[in-house]
Amino acid sequence: MERLIVFGGSFDPIHNGHLRIAQAASFALNADVVFVPARKPRWKTTEASAADRLAMLKIALASSGSGAFYIDTVELDGDAEENYSIDTVRYLQRKNPKKRLYLLIGADQVNAFPRWREAKALSRESDVCYIRRDGVPVDEETVAAFHMRAIDYDKAGSVSSSSVRELRSLDIPAKVLGYIESHGLYFMKKVIPRLSKERLIHSVSVARLGFAIAERNGIASADKAYVAGLLHDLGKSLPEEEARKIVRDNFPSAYADYPAWALHQFTGRYLAEKDFGIADQAALDAIEFHCTGKAHMPPLGKIIYSADKIEPTRGYDSSKMIHECLKDYYMGFLTVLSENRKFLMEKGYDMDIPLSKECFDMYLGGKK
Ligand SMILES: [Fe+2]
Ligand SMILES: [Fe+2]
Repeated sequence: MERLIVFGGSFDPIHNGHLRIAQAASFALNADVVFVPARKPRWKTTEASAADRLAMLKIALASSGSGAFYIDTVELDGDAEENYSIDTVRYLQRKNPKKRLYLLIGADQVNAFPRWREAKALSRESDVCYIRRDGVPVDEETVAAFHMRAIDYDKAGSVSSSSVRELRSLDIPAKVLGYIESHGLYFMKKVIPRLSKERLIHSVSVARLGFAIAERNGIASADKAYVAGLLHDLGKSLPEEEARKIVRDNFPSAYADYPAWALHQFTGRYLAEKDFGIADQAALDAIEFHCTGKAHMPPLGKIIYSADKIEPTRGYDSSKMIHECLKDYYMGFLTVLSENRKFLMEKGYDMDIPLSKECFDMYLGGKK
């Protein structure tokens, strides 16, 4: 008998963990997977609209390239105040009379399953299965009572929809990320009002280029490059006086006297940490020195420094340097740094501010 896996969820947004789980279940059971986005999940509220969640789901499934995945919008289309799995399973069974249904639930839902509406009938009319997960103990009695089947799969990763919404993970298809950017969802909702239109375009561009450079160079923290790139200029919107106060109160005292144009790297770090909850030190450091650089910059710092100067919307032909950074971020950084020093000298910027000086000295030596 042909089989069909029913994978319900709010998909707010869909992420690669969902896709990997669906793929694993599809292989394990030799079955197609029907994704059923929930209209209004009982246990939480959704952040994105049903239309956006569905659009992202469609994009993700299309880019997964799996012919075994499709979507049923029965829950989105209905006007029921609440949707219950039993109703969805019965509907899908009527629609697919020759198939045996497998209801895929999260390991964290196993123990609460007995309280689901018509749980007994649900486990008779479908085979309930779940992905075993380390650290999520399941009640063996419940598993036995409802004839649940565990699927062994340990590569789902730690991504969750909430971690994507809060910029803690970007383990999502690239096109879903593009959708979040262009529709201003989740973290973008907080970023957009803080940046001018031009700066927003620049910041997204730095994020994408930073991500690409990190990824192409095999640097594990490509996600962090995106985060640092997206948030690096957050401090630009602060008036100088406020910026100086933040720097004075939160950073080594020497930074408080830096020229106005350099302050936003410090305030950017401050705001990324305080308002966006970014805790990753490498990403925060990359923001903190993106403007002046410094001695001993870690790879992420070099990448963001470079991406900021050469991202393709900057308005000059930076394609050679972009190419160089993609090929070898370190060599690319040296070129960008040297070009930037030339540029700053021509424009008459103060070249003696300590961080810039130590950076130029360390990486360019006496070279002009
Ligand atoms: Fe900047
Ligand atoms: Fe910038």
